[in-house]
Amino acid sequence: MVSTQSIGTPMGNRSPNQQLLPLTAKINSRDRLEIGGCEVTALVEQFGSPLYILDEETLQTTCGQYRDAFKRYYAGESQVLYASKAWSCLAVCAIAAQEGLGIDVVSAGELLTAQLAGVNPDKIYFHGNNKSCEELQGAVEVGCITVADNWRDLETLAKLAASETPARVMVRFTPGIECHTHDYIKTGQLDSKFGFDPNELDEVFTFIRQQTTLSCIGIHAHIGSQIFELQPHYDLADVIVKAFAKATHYGLAPTEINIGGGLGIRYTEADDPPSIEAWASTACTAVAAACKKHKLPLPKLLCEPGRSLVGTACVTAYTVGSQKVIPGVRTYLAVDGGMSDNPRPITYQSVYRVLAAGKMSAPLTETVTIAGKHCESGDVLIKDATLPKCETGDILAVPATGAYNYSMASNYNRVPKPAAVLVRNGEANIIIQRETDQDLLRHDRLPERLRTQE
Ligand code: LLP
Repeated sequence: MVSTQSIGTPMGNRSPNQQLLPLTAKINSRDRLEIGGCEVTALVEQFGSPLYILDEETLQTTCGQYRDAFKRYYAGESQVLYASKAWSCLAVCAIAAQEGLGIDVVSAGELLTAQLAGVNPDKIYFHGNNKSCEELQGAVEVGCITVADNWRDLETLAKLAASETPARVMVRFTPGIECHTHDYIKTGQLDSKFGFDPNELDEVFTFIRQQTTLSCIGIHAHIGSQIFELQPHYDLADVIVKAFAKATHYGLAPTEINIGGGLGIRYTEADDPPSIEAWASTACTAVAAACKKHKLPLPKLLCEPGRSLVGTACVTAYTVGSQKVIPGVRTYLAVDGGMSDNPRPITYQSVYRVLAAGKMSAPLTETVTIAGKHCESGDVLIKDATLPKCETGDILAVPATGAYNYSMASNYNRVPKPAAVLVRNGEANIIIQRETDQDLLRHDRLPERLRTQE
């Protein structure tokens, strides 16, 4: 018997990051894929293609699972932040904030988005290894917390802030913890552009102690992204608590520890990440054990996941266009998007799954390669995908595209960025409009002398 497309096992006690599709995914009576009660094919008819389809229930569930797990496993105060670099837009930030999360931002643009989404500045943490003076000034004015990554951050903030309202800073350092993930998304190893070297901490704490305009509220470290192991996060706790103890020793009064993000998600059946619950319980237990060892009261514990909060909540729908059959070699099915809306395959060799959203029970008879529409041979979304026979006009759905897809999208080849819709209980709302040709040309200027005179 030929197998058909599966949408995975129902949730059970798994968390969304361990599944391929959003929690509300089902195959309806018309044999079509449905997300949030909306048929993927009908959404494309209404809103066009390609289309990012974000399931509100999945995003709310992941936010709630993180929030509740930290409350359950940690006896002290806790705060989950959404690392908005994964997908910074008003709707995603607003949903995270409604679920009680704070927001981690890394630029003036992400800061503005969080603010306009209604996030309280006390819950906004400003990261970045090269914040401009304007960005630091903005952080001071907004009154959010700045994660000091380097001396320039500290020195600039010390000048910008006032003694009556010292700038609240977290000190970020590289914890020297290795983990198994793609080299580009590792951040915790010593050879990293982010954070202070651990050997500099004595000097850093001495400097802050001397500034009346700075207040060190905590210590931060992040080890990397798309991590499937729990041990690195367990090991991180001791390293970070030691740095926290050192800050206290220098006369500072830090109250917070931020352990970063990094939990992986399932992109294909081969991926088997730990649950949000397991990750949270590991982190909480490890921090509590390290505090006990260093005889410290429990600090406020923060984490800042991005991918595992929003990744699984979105699928991207594409329409099949041309086909190229190279007998005995491969068949290419080209779709109307590609590396401009999902740069992860070409950047990190990331592997994705694909489903034919309009014929979910059709037998899987074909092995095809899904190519993008860009002028670049490497613009291939999925190699050797198993699909039913597909024709021009069929709708394909690529799962797990919520994190680092829209946020890293480009206009390569002057292709407009797709729209995004938020789905819930059969209703769909546009959260990001599709770019138009005018949007693409908005910043172009043609100097007088280049205008053709005919
Ligand atoms: N905190 C800090 C300081 C970070 O640098 C990052 C991610 C996070 C939190 C969130 O990590 P997550 O929970 O999402 O793993 N563009 C790459 C991922 C880059 C991650 C950068 N930093 C990708 O598409 O895989």
